[in-house]
Amino acid sequence: LRDSFTHIVQEQNQETVYCVRPQASAFKVAILGAAGGIGQPLALLINTSPLVSALHLFDIANVKGVAADLSHCNTPAQVLAFTGNAELANALKGVDVVVIPAGVPRKPGMTRDDLFNINANIVKNLVEAVADNCPDAFIHIISNPVNSTVPIAAEVLKQKGVYDPKKLFGVTTLDVVRANTFVAQKKGLKLIDVDVPVVGGHAGVTILPLLSKTYPSVSFTDKEVEELTVRIQNAGTEVVEAKAGAGSATLSMAYAAARFVESSLRALDGDSDVYECSFVQSDLIELPFFASRIKLGKKGVEAFISADLQGLTEYELNALEALKPELKASIEKGVAFVQKEL
Ligand code: NAD
Ligand code: LMR
Repeated sequence: LRDSFTHIVQEQNQETVYCVRPQASAFKVAILGAAGGIGQPLALLINTSPLVSALHLFDIANVKGVAADLSHCNTPAQVLAFTGNAELANALKGVDVVVIPAGVPRKPGMTRDDLFNINANIVKNLVEAVADNCPDAFIHIISNPVNSTVPIAAEVLKQKGVYDPKKLFGVTTLDVVRANTFVAQKKGLKLIDVDVPVVGGHAGVTILPLLSKTYPSVSFTDKEVEELTVRIQNAGTEVVEAKAGAGSATLSMAYAAARFVESSLRALDGDSDVYECSFVQSDLIELPFFASRIKLGKKGVEAFISADLQGLTEYELNALEALKPELKASIEKGVAFVQKEL
């Protein structure tokens, strides 16, 4: 019994009481860009998950210290550091979920698309290694511009013959986290209860919170809808400006990314009630990639929640039409980046 179960032991009136529960599942997670502003707090949060048995931290610099530091936490996960191209393959072998926050962040005055020239190559090279070493893993892309880096990753995986669209995710959880926070504040709701689906993409007007689908049901004036939508769309820029040249959102992003990792691990573990928003290959609208609420299962995306797109308000319908040209151009830019190198 002792070997096959985890015991929570309590001393009660000098008697030992064993509470028996099945052992936690053991998944391996890799973070590529683990020594960065997002990578470090994300590693800390993932390290506390009971579902994680191993955490592989990869970066081109400074990752050994991060891993040494984190490995002193008395949490079950084994933390290992990997650095340089020579160690990338070992960082990825046997991994169930790969999270990619590698790349440069914005400074004030920049758009996410201004990061394309540097981050496109970084994501392409890292995803090539993912394809070679853990093609079955869930891949979570954080590096911006997400509207282009996810199509880049898809093209790389296609070229390698291992593309599974159900397992490639652009992480848009921060948009949902922000929407939930701002709506709860504005409407005086209990934060824990609030859930706002956010669809489209992850840049400016392509971020479309569906306020009419807010749970619990709540009504907004036209002015509130306009103010909340614009705030959610510009929340990344709000942080970039407040940090004044020192980068973009890292702590709230790590919180959001850890939530998406935990949801993925729960799905992999057999939980049949896992829903998140994510930017994925989709047939919900005419564009090949689209962020929406999805159901996650052991094999990745199990279903698209199309009901969120039914019965939209006129404001939301107009915003959905308005976002399509920018989103289409960003997707095509990502695809062309990989195809032109053929
Ligand atoms: P950062 O500069 O603090 O960290 C980036 C890390 O990536 C650094 O440690 C760097 O050494 C590493 N890196 C660079 N090239 C690499 C490579 N080839 N392989 C492995 N590691 C490499 O930046 P940050 O604040 O952590 O942001 C990272 C990215 O995440 C940016 O592109 C940013 O725009 C994006 N981001 C996305 C969201 C989102 O919602 N999806 C939110 C916030 C930030
Ligand atoms: C965010 O939404 O915070 C990120 O995409 C980072 C940025 O550049 O705004």
